[in-house]
Amino acid sequence: METTKLMDRDLALELARVTEAAAIGSAKWLGRGDKEAADQAAVSSMRHMFSTVDIDGVVVIGEGEKDEAPMLYIGEQIGKAGPDADAVDIAVDPLDGTTSTAKGTANAISVIAVAGRGKLYHTKNYYMEKLAVGPKAKGHIDITKPLKENIINVAKALNKKVEDVTVTILERDRHNNLIAQCRQLGCRIKLFRDGDVGAAIATALDDSGIDIMVGIGGAPEGVLAAAALKCLGGEIQGRLHAHTSEEIHQAQTNPHYYDVLTTDDLAAGDDILFIATGVSDGDMLKGVRFMADNIVKTHTIVMRSASGTIRFIEAIHNMNKKPVYAQGDEK
Ligand code: FBP
Repeated sequence: METTKLMDRDLALELARVTEAAAIGSAKWLGRGDKEAADQAAVSSMRHMFSTVDIDGVVVIGEGEKDEAPMLYIGEQIGKAGPDADAVDIAVDPLDGTTSTAKGTANAISVIAVAGRGKLYHTKNYYMEKLAVGPKAKGHIDITKPLKENIINVAKALNKKVEDVTVTILERDRHNNLIAQCRQLGCRIKLFRDGDVGAAIATALDDSGIDIMVGIGGAPEGVLAAAALKCLGGEIQGRLHAHTSEEIHQAQTNPHYYDVLTTDDLAAGDDILFIATGVSDGDMLKGVRFMADNIVKTHTIVMRSASGTIRFIEAIHNMNKKPVYAQGDEK
């Protein structure tokens, strides 16, 4: 099995502090109707906490290009980068669910994935078409085939009736055709308003009640979902979806633009860390709770593909003793 330096150290807890800080920062904006401020708070808190972790990281999935994103932009070097630091790729979504946070609705998370250098798929594309399943249906999906066919194959793999299969779909007009296919087939649908990283992960969690996640969502979120599904033993297939005029031009000139991206194409190697902290309450994680006496509670999932360990961490932070958690707050 491939070994990277990541295998030698357990970065997981240090990195959990990164998403905890981002979640706490953005949760302060829950329901305040300002998604930019919520995102900004997540970004600055995350970046500040990364500066305390001894890694030699480069952001491969981030807030966008340097000229449009002052922090956590693609290509930004992050971490303390001491002499023993691991050289790693980092994918971040400081706040997946900016709208949910602004509205105070469900499923917003702060999320990162870390892998050896060169292991995470690098894309500036806006959208990706995705099809994700958990471990029992792994090997039974094909994104190039109609959704109906995939549902029937997944039902067989899960030893379920088609009508008992639940497909989760981001509620967007562009998905009306997918919804119609499910309805014709008679399977169950769970629509969600935002947050397709969590929705993809749900396919691999036994008690989520979700079997398949399908639809077009953010391309960066596709890489993060692949990192998580690698840890959970599930599968995701993706295909870039041309949205901007530049992307449409690329799709017309690059014969490989629509090539299928497998889980391994999106998140390669055997040592991947995935960490997410709930911002608002969701199916997988509880949101941040602000308690009396400046106590804050967070709920985090930490997964590592090399060991297969999945940890849920409920942390109680005394913010009076943790000024570092608030330092990213200043803008
Ligand atoms: P943001 O927090 O960046 O807005 O992303 C939320 C999200 O729901 C993602 O989970 C999803 O991949 C994407 O938006 C879908 O994009 P759109 O809202 O343009 O359909």
